[in-house]
Amino acid sequence: MICLRDCDSNMVSESGRLAKAATQTSKTIREEVTIIMDKTHALRYRIAPLEMSPSEFRKAGYRLVDQVAELLCSLPERPVAPNESLAALRALLGSRSLPELGQDASSLLDEAADLLFDHSVFNGHPRFMGFITSSAAPIGALGDLLAAAVNANVGASLLAPMATQIESQVVRWIAELIGYPPDCGGLLVSGGNMANCICFLAARKAKADWDVRTVGMYMETSRRLRIYTSLETHTWVQKAADMYGLGTESIRWIPVDQALRMDTSALRAQIQADRTEGDLPFLVVGTAGTVSTGAVDPLPELAAICREYGLWFHVDGAYGALAAMLLDRGDVEVPVDLRGIREADSVAVDPHKWLYAPLEAGCALVRESGLLRDAFSYHPTYYNFDQEDTTASINYYEYGPQNSRGFRALKVWLALRQAGREGYEGMISDDIQLAQELYRVVETQLELQAFTQDLSITTFRYVPPDLLPGSQEIESYLNALNAELLTQLQKRGEAFLSNAVIGETFVLRACIVNFRTSLEDIEALPGIVIRIGREVDAAIRPGKQKDPERNIR
Ligand SMILES: Cc1ncc(COP(=O)(O)O)c(C=O)c1O
Repeated sequence: MICLRDCDSNMVSESGRLAKAATQTSKTIREEVTIIMDKTHALRYRIAPLEMSPSEFRKAGYRLVDQVAELLCSLPERPVAPNESLAALRALLGSRSLPELGQDASSLLDEAADLLFDHSVFNGHPRFMGFITSSAAPIGALGDLLAAAVNANVGASLLAPMATQIESQVVRWIAELIGYPPDCGGLLVSGGNMANCICFLAARKAKADWDVRTVGMYMETSRRLRIYTSLETHTWVQKAADMYGLGTESIRWIPVDQALRMDTSALRAQIQADRTEGDLPFLVVGTAGTVSTGAVDPLPELAAICREYGLWFHVDGAYGALAAMLLDRGDVEVPVDLRGIREADSVAVDPHKWLYAPLEAGCALVRESGLLRDAFSYHPTYYNFDQEDTTASINYYEYGPQNSRGFRALKVWLALRQAGREGYEGMISDDIQLAQELYRVVETQLELQAFTQDLSITTFRYVPPDLLPGSQEIESYLNALNAELLTQLQKRGEAFLSNAVIGETFVLRACIVNFRTSLEDIEALPGIVIRIGREVDAAIRPGKQKDPERNIR
């Protein structure tokens, strides 16, 4: 093995040049090279086609960093989303097969940057307000580069001593931010779905009254495990019930109140009914910030019900849990029910949402660390990881389904330190205030109808001035109109929203988890939506009623 230094001996650079030439150029040269370098020599001075000399790496890296810096500062001038068909994208990429010969790294990076810069949806754009996908902290991008360069395998402390310590510090800090016990167990995963699934499995292991990890889900004597959650819960809960063998019919869908929060009387009644039937209620899932509207379930009440019936209380705080850091700040109001998070047996929190980490980063927290390990730990003979002080060394492969694990925690750790608690409180508070301001501005517009405002999500819709909402016919027209409006808005790239369906109503949904969005973007949004709404309405209702008598709104 040799280290490729820029000024290594002639022999090394010559053999390197030849080896590279061998992979990158024609067969004739390769044959010549083979003659020159006997096998032993080639292996001794082995230079793999993937190797880069320091100067090559520096040149390509500096250039890429310059390009990324340019991208970030040009975001406001770019369309939020490209308006291109998938066929056009496929054509651009071409249908060539895997190249036989390698290519220069720098030119490949240039090509990849061009493809991505010109054909991406930019969730870091100030006017991206869709789904719950945040703008990403630039330090996170650099952190990912650093993590990939060191390539720590954070499955075991032995393989990643410092990375493991950093991950456990990140877990502790996230717990602190949301008011959860900092000595809880936890780990970073790919996102909200996985974080929730991990907590689900911890609950299943802790509450099944048989050895579910050994025997599996159903024995003749086992009772049916029941999960309780609201209709507003994210679809991860169905995936979990399905993947882990309970089946989606195990889920009891508890209705919600007017504010789209779980109805606790209905919850209590359902738990009692299932107990009477001989089922085994084991898990209540409350949400801190639902995916559609940002509603926060009555978490303290859910905690009390779980205590009363001996159920596991899980909070899906993938989106909203981090707003709990604002509970004691006076400048922005957040639901006091967020205080219930601290009573949960487990919580899912997504750093790639409101900690603005680049994708991917989710975090699962379990109050009793041992219960998390109980759900995943095995000790295969081929691992000899417990060599040192076992209380200090965490082997993360024992705390989740992954074995080899990347160093997701680094980007989160860097961003947390760059902004500090105060910085994060400010950013989250600003996002919420901007969403509140959007609601206020929407309410002043005759052609817009405001629906909900919770955390940093505001929902509304376009209503042509001659239509009075309410009748089935008009409601169904408004649904179709707003769906097409949304498609047009997304295609045109002026701003990016997504949608929610509230009851039977299709609404536009702005979710601000974006530290680049400013008041100017919020003030521009109603005008953009109204302009596109009018155009779409005129296109699908060309002979629309112009009679001012019908101008009833
Ligand atoms: C409340 C909630 N839970 C879970 C998820 C899933 O998170 P992810 O997409 O990171 O897997 C989301 C995503 O928006 C969410 O809002």
